[in-house]
Amino acid sequence: MAEKNATLTLPTGEVIDLPVLKGSYGPDVIDVSGLLNAGYFTYDPGFMSTAATESKITFIDGNQGVLLHRGYSIEELAEHSDFLETCFLLWYGFLPAKQEKIEFVSNITRHTMVHESLAHFFDGFHHNAHPMAMMCGAVGALSAFYHDVMDIRSERDREIAAHRLVAKMPTLAAMCYKHSLGQPFMYPRNDLSYAANFLYMMFGTPCEEYRISKAVESAMDKIFLLHADHEQNASTSTVRLAGSTGANPFACISSGIAALWGPAHGGANEAVLVMLEEIGSVENIPMFIDKAKDPDDPFKLMGFGHRVYKNFDPRAKVIKASCDAVLAELGVTDPRLAVAMELERIALSDPYFADRKLFPNVDFYSGIILSAIGIPTSMFTVIFAVARTIGWMSHWDEMSSESYKIGRPRQLYTGEPPRSYKL
Ligand code: SDX
Repeated sequence: MAEKNATLTLPTGEVIDLPVLKGSYGPDVIDVSGLLNAGYFTYDPGFMSTAATESKITFIDGNQGVLLHRGYSIEELAEHSDFLETCFLLWYGFLPAKQEKIEFVSNITRHTMVHESLAHFFDGFHHNAHPMAMMCGAVGALSAFYHDVMDIRSERDREIAAHRLVAKMPTLAAMCYKHSLGQPFMYPRNDLSYAANFLYMMFGTPCEEYRISKAVESAMDKIFLLHADHEQNASTSTVRLAGSTGANPFACISSGIAALWGPAHGGANEAVLVMLEEIGSVENIPMFIDKAKDPDDPFKLMGFGHRVYKNFDPRAKVIKASCDAVLAELGVTDPRLAVAMELERIALSDPYFADRKLFPNVDFYSGIILSAIGIPTSMFTVIFAVARTIGWMSHWDEMSSESYKIGRPRQLYTGEPPRSYKL
């Protein structure tokens, strides 16, 4: 892939050539792996300009606000596809033919139950345990039920593990919610779509029939689709790093869930709603904008900014458009939406945000829709994890399908030089 070289002159005057690798789309990369031989490491805290891997799954152009899954734009997938079809696309690399989709959906549907013993794991959690804490534990615990029956070098075993995780995540997520309510767990139903089944397991009870609104089912499916994958984000990179040690996929996904939980990443959707409730009314917005701009105040506008997008997050645009439709369809008015829209208007007209290219990201509006369909705030990041599982697994599979080295970054050491032990 190297068609040309970059030349680096070291302090010693030595000149070394670094191959420039060309991708199929987007920026080239400079292969710096040869620097170690010259006695140097690269230094890039936060990996701002570091490509940690090669990948064919998702492409993002942050300046243009472009997001492609296997070459298809997120806008087209959101309009024409659905979550499980997008899962197929991310995993296999192409859109399924009709029969392929039928078989894939059937496969996922028939893996939604979890081992009955897993229900006992929830007894150890207090009823007010954060559902993300329960998900870290429950998903990691799947290792105790399946990892010994899989060989991560086997393509088929990896595929089965992916089917199991995509299928079981909604079941485990709903179990977290039911445990927090003290309500019985609802078994999955094979006659429902992925999104409808999740809503049924979340809100259904054994006492009466649970009616699923088509508008809510469609909004839930779109939320899953929009969160399915996003290149080498923090949680996906965590899954890849865990996978590079040869850890089983259930342990790797559990590590991804843990990384996603942070408010700077997947925890932002929950933090946005908390922030909107803290702002309370449009009149209070200027005070919070000032707090966000104050370098001495740790407060940030949740749902704003992105490491890669320096333009609108295309997912935020799709979600914002759905917001109005879903709220209207459900006849729901949410005062937080008015605060969110005014906050966006004011922020985007403020030089602080414009100069730093801080636009609303996927998390800014997703919470409004999730609230409208009845999802409690504490479950927002869990839903993000359910959706992102296919992305995490696809990247784990891509890495596992090739020869890979264990991920082991180095450092710039600024500690004590060698000294001898004396009291
Ligand atoms: C997700 O990577 C992915 O792809 C993630 C994700 C995915 O799908 O996997 O897209 C999902 O995690 C979306 C992001 C959700 N997080 C939030 O909404 C939390 C709020 N946002 C910030 O924490 C922040 O914007 C980050 C973490 C998202 C990005 O941080 P960066 O790239 O490290 O940027 P930075 O912190 O260096 O900020 C640059 C400047 C700084 O000011 P200066 O030092 O230049 O004066 O912008 C400021 C920051 O203080 N800034 C903000 C801000 N975000 C950045 N100021 C106020 N409010 C904010 N939200």
